[in-house]
Amino acid sequence: LQDSKLTEFEDNDQKPVGFGRMLRKEDARLLRGRGRFVDDVQLPGMLHLAILRSPFAHATIVSIDTSAAEASPGVKAVVTGETLKGLGLAWMPTLSNDVQAVLATDKVRFQGQEVAFVVAEDRYQARDALELIDVEYDVLDPVIDVRKALEPDAPIIRTDLEGKTNNHVFDWETGDEEETARVFAEADVIVQEDIVYPRVHPAPMETCGSVADFDPVEGKLRLWSTTQAPHAHRTLYAIVAGIPEHKIQVIAPDIGGGFGNKVPIYPGYVHSIVGSIVTGKPVKWMEDRSENLISTGFARDYIMRAEIAATNDGKILAIRTNVLADHGAFNGTAAPVKYPAGFFGVFTGSYDLKAAHCKMTAVYTNKAPGGVAYACSFRITEAVYLVERIVDALAYQLEMDPAELRLKNFIQPEQFPYTTKTGWVYDSGDYEPTMRLAMEMAGYDELRREQAEKRARGELMGIGISFFTEAVGAGPRKNMDILGLGMADGCELRIHPTGKAVVRLSVKTQGQGHETTFAQIIAEELGIPPADIDVLHGDTDNTPFGLGTYGSRSTPVSGAAAALVARKVRDKAKLIASAMLEVSVADLDWVKGAFQVKGDPGRSVTIQDIAFRTHGAGDLPDGVEGGLEAQICYNPSNLTYPHGAYICVVDIDPGTAEVKVRRFIAVDDCGTRINPMIIEGQVHGGLADGVGMALMEMISFDSDGNCLGASLMDYLIPTALETPDWETGYTVTPSPHHPIGAKGIGESATVGSPPAIVNAVVDALKPFGVRHADMPLTPSRVWDAMRGQATPP
Ligand code: CDP
Repeated sequence: LQDSKLTEFEDNDQKPVGFGRMLRKEDARLLRGRGRFVDDVQLPGMLHLAILRSPFAHATIVSIDTSAAEASPGVKAVVTGETLKGLGLAWMPTLSNDVQAVLATDKVRFQGQEVAFVVAEDRYQARDALELIDVEYDVLDPVIDVRKALEPDAPIIRTDLEGKTNNHVFDWETGDEEETARVFAEADVIVQEDIVYPRVHPAPMETCGSVADFDPVEGKLRLWSTTQAPHAHRTLYAIVAGIPEHKIQVIAPDIGGGFGNKVPIYPGYVHSIVGSIVTGKPVKWMEDRSENLISTGFARDYIMRAEIAATNDGKILAIRTNVLADHGAFNGTAAPVKYPAGFFGVFTGSYDLKAAHCKMTAVYTNKAPGGVAYACSFRITEAVYLVERIVDALAYQLEMDPAELRLKNFIQPEQFPYTTKTGWVYDSGDYEPTMRLAMEMAGYDELRREQAEKRARGELMGIGISFFTEAVGAGPRKNMDILGLGMADGCELRIHPTGKAVVRLSVKTQGQGHETTFAQIIAEELGIPPADIDVLHGDTDNTPFGLGTYGSRSTPVSGAAAALVARKVRDKAKLIASAMLEVSVADLDWVKGAFQVKGDPGRSVTIQDIAFRTHGAGDLPDGVEGGLEAQICYNPSNLTYPHGAYICVVDIDPGTAEVKVRRFIAVDDCGTRINPMIIEGQVHGGLADGVGMALMEMISFDSDGNCLGASLMDYLIPTALETPDWETGYTVTPSPHHPIGAKGIGESATVGSPPAIVNAVVDALKPFGVRHADMPLTPSRVWDAMRGQATPP
């Protein structure tokens, strides 16, 4: 493959600049094995680190004997919690205002918790030495069931927190309880369901790891790490380790998928830093698959009681819910401080309600910490699942078509900006055309006819709908921060003398194609071909401060910053163009890539001419400095609210209860589309995630707290065999406050697809009187549902 081929537009429309189906610039590197991931980093004299993990979910540490491990071949250091305690490093803050043990000191609180680490000359020596560490544990009763954690006599997990007498993490409430009760009292119909969103894991292809290199002469720490938020991590390391920020360089090189799993700071990162400081050598830590699955940020784990109130003719009046949230042993999510339950408040969905209320209790259990935003903007996945499931249950109860019920209750276009009953201001939306397009693509009426015929023959076919509104692009810094760091993002743009450009971002791609799409944003604004624009990201020494990539925030926040920084450059270029063309700025027109004299298109200067002039010989206009560059820190005024309509068709084998997803139609609206090919890729991936969560994935535990999903043999993730050919479509409702009208897309499909699939399965099981069944809908769960037996969560 030639480079030129790889940077051409896919549809070969010869479009030289801007938005369109441009092939990904980064693929030239990634497809040829030229990517550089953390595990590719090799430094002279580098040592390797392995972590000893607790076999128990809850146990007091009586003693640790490391003498045999220290004497093992190649071992350079063995570090325990006691060593770290002496350095004041045994505990670290999490990104959600809790603390987490870097290495256990007093007791272990989940199976897989970090107890000690070994640094050795190679990975095998480090692993072998782990076997020689002798830990005496005194096993305690584990708290595995979230409901039992709230019982008065439940063992207290967080004995490290002074005065803690229960297992509550937080109690949280939104909406108006009284008003909601009043509206419920007036309703003709009330439907209630207990809905579980099980614990799942983002399971990125690349596991987590880091290489730390502390230079004692310069006093500088360089850390290559699998992080989605290099700047935020650097600030936290500076606070915890006391190394000033300018002496810490965090480098997130190529990342093999994050999905929220690489937002938290894991003890392993800190171990590698300590390991490097202690040994004076670079130290690499790279976890294996099981370590990733049992100890790093899980997602979801919500038990939700949902109630919906409506009139007999299907006008939805109110929704209320009570949620029990399992946060594991440490609150290790990364949520904006004022939003302990993330953006769960959008559980009112896409509907115009009279009232809504939510009460949530988050608890500690003896499980791995997390609750991370797995391909989701802070708990929106759970919220969308809740509302789309309970709306379907209402349709079942009213014997109404679920599409008709949704169409009847949508927020109308003229109601935007729309303030929900939980206080979210949806910036824009036009829901009905999106829904109608999905129905048309699916051939909805024909599908219902086919279903009726099949039902008459005893065949099980289901059609499931989900319609979602997301809130992405966290966020306005007035009310969103993580650990006090406001959620804004920087961007710097420099145009070189010959008109080539480099743009520096504070966000960090993990495979989403930022090197392409951010070049396209600059190209669209300045007319410089994307191939001439280098996109730098992931290195704190070379990029402006910002809070990183998760919750589909890159395009809403950094994408806006990129467009605005380009406009700043264009404003300066205009002053120089007016001097070059000897006309006033008012007499200039911008025609993509060049300034032209009004009414005289023959007289023009290109952005490249101007770039050379700003660096060239001769004076510039009064007050104009040389160089063509700008920087910006963008603080969004609101989130962006993408929406979508998904329709899923399933067939269930009545003999084996196996579910087959036959068709999946996804119509997304993410406002202005920068690169439709990348958008489709994001949607395809998210839909596959949805199939996994709806039908296969769950991290479960036995009563002793042993994790039962510790390998990909037990934790099933979908392959091409379980997924159909996706049918995608789109509508465009631009965001009114985003400079290019773009909304996020990275997570829409993960958020929107699980309810569509579950609704389809439940719809197929209607002849059995099934109104709800919990994910993952494995054959055994479907079989139970067919026989009227609910599977306990
Ligand atoms: O933050 P993250 O990159 O995960 O999510 P995103 O901002 O939704 O973007 C995912 C990818 O889709 C990026 O490469 C975006 O530039 C691209 N995208 C797009 O082409 N058009 C949009 N309206 C939104 C995203």
